[in-house]
Amino acid sequence: MLIKNLSEFLGQEVEIRGWVYNLRSSGNIFFLQIRDGSGFAQAVVSKDSVPEQVWADCAKLSLESSIIIKGKVTQHPRQADVFELQATVLQIVQAAAEYPIGKKEHGPDFLMEYRHLWLRSPKQWAILRVRDAIMLAIEEFLHSADFVRVDSPIFTPNACEGTTTLFQVPYFDLGTAYLSQSGQLYLEAAIASVGRCYDFGPVFRAEKSKTKRHLTEFWMMDAEAAFVEHEENLQIQENLTRYIIRYCLTYCQKELAILERDTTKLAQVDAPFVRLNYKEAIAKLRQLGSDIKEGEDLGNDDEVLLTKDSPVPIFIEKWPANIKPFYMKRDAQNSELVLNSDLIATEGAGELIGGSQREDNYDSLLERLKAEGLKVEDYEWYLDLRRYGSVPHSGFGIGLERTVRWITGVEHVRECIPFPRTINRLKP
Ligand code: 4AD
Ligand code: MG
Repeated sequence: MLIKNLSEFLGQEVEIRGWVYNLRSSGNIFFLQIRDGSGFAQAVVSKDSVPEQVWADCAKLSLESSIIIKGKVTQHPRQADVFELQATVLQIVQAAAEYPIGKKEHGPDFLMEYRHLWLRSPKQWAILRVRDAIMLAIEEFLHSADFVRVDSPIFTPNACEGTTTLFQVPYFDLGTAYLSQSGQLYLEAAIASVGRCYDFGPVFRAEKSKTKRHLTEFWMMDAEAAFVEHEENLQIQENLTRYIIRYCLTYCQKELAILERDTTKLAQVDAPFVRLNYKEAIAKLRQLGSDIKEGEDLGNDDEVLLTKDSPVPIFIEKWPANIKPFYMKRDAQNSELVLNSDLIATEGAGELIGGSQREDNYDSLLERLKAEGLKVEDYEWYLDLRRYGSVPHSGFGIGLERTVRWITGVEHVRECIPFPRTINRLKP
């Protein structure tokens, strides 16, 4: 019996197993706020209708004690869609010690120290559930579009996204391993087997950024598809993004309400996305008052500014090759640009997806590797993919926590992953 199904048991005796997250008494009645993982409900214990022992136990209850409670399901006297339990039996599984997270306001550092307990609060519960829904939505969308899950390794011998943000791990007699920054390169191998594939897992960036959008360990879904070129790559990303929004608006109403998320703007995302090429984006930003110059990457403020009045996310495509990774394919119209895109979400959420068509020509790729100063021998296997049946192909990576942050409207990405890792947090 789960709290979420309480309404189906109106008038019946049920048993709920969970925790007391709040309690108050008024004379001969105890009101217990209980939760069992599936939802939240109130149990009413009246002195007159329970054995003396139950009443005595009730008085011993502390916040976050674990309990098994039995009683009859009734409708709330004033709220038609709220169901309660009129308790008859109460068993304390464990009487909790004094709970450190109280009703008073706690600072973020305190809450992060107690992350293992903070996860129980209704807002954190809601975020965990939205995160789960987003993962399901992504997987559902990809399978409906014929993508196969092919996970990539976390220990890797080489860099995918630049050598400056690599975490190093001593690796037996083989020297140094690097924690993966993205599984993309491995997916490029797997498309020649399954056509379209994706991975979904933790990736690592030793970024010294202390922003509200950066983690050192975050989850990414990389997707890759054979015979898909730049244009279609954008279309897939757009369809995926809309699918995620629609899915969450349909299945996470309760969670978004707990988070007090005004979903008006999210609902507007269900329309074609705006596209700007990099040059246009820079021009627009300068018009809006940014001091960004051509050839520079967008800062957080720029991303917020650019999307300020846009009801839909904005793709910025065709960036200068020299500020993007070696694997991106050059634009045939202008060889200084690459066939890539960053998707900037609405409501200040910033970059959500990075994607590109990949360099599929052996000579061009070799030249890029050398120009970037990467050790060619480390990438021989990757060059093999251009030696044996190379095809045009494209892919992208979506940051899970960035997506959770956008949809939940939570300010800081550290609340969008169960146990965040940032430059200054490794505990709990
Ligand atoms: O734009 P990025 O660096 O792209 C790649 O890694 C490609 N190899 C992906 C691909 O084509 N398969 O990262 C992709 C996304 C970003 O758009 C952002 O959402 C997220 O990953 N991201 C981060 N999220 C949290 N903390 C960080 N430090 C992040 N860095 C990137
Ligand atoms: Mg990026």
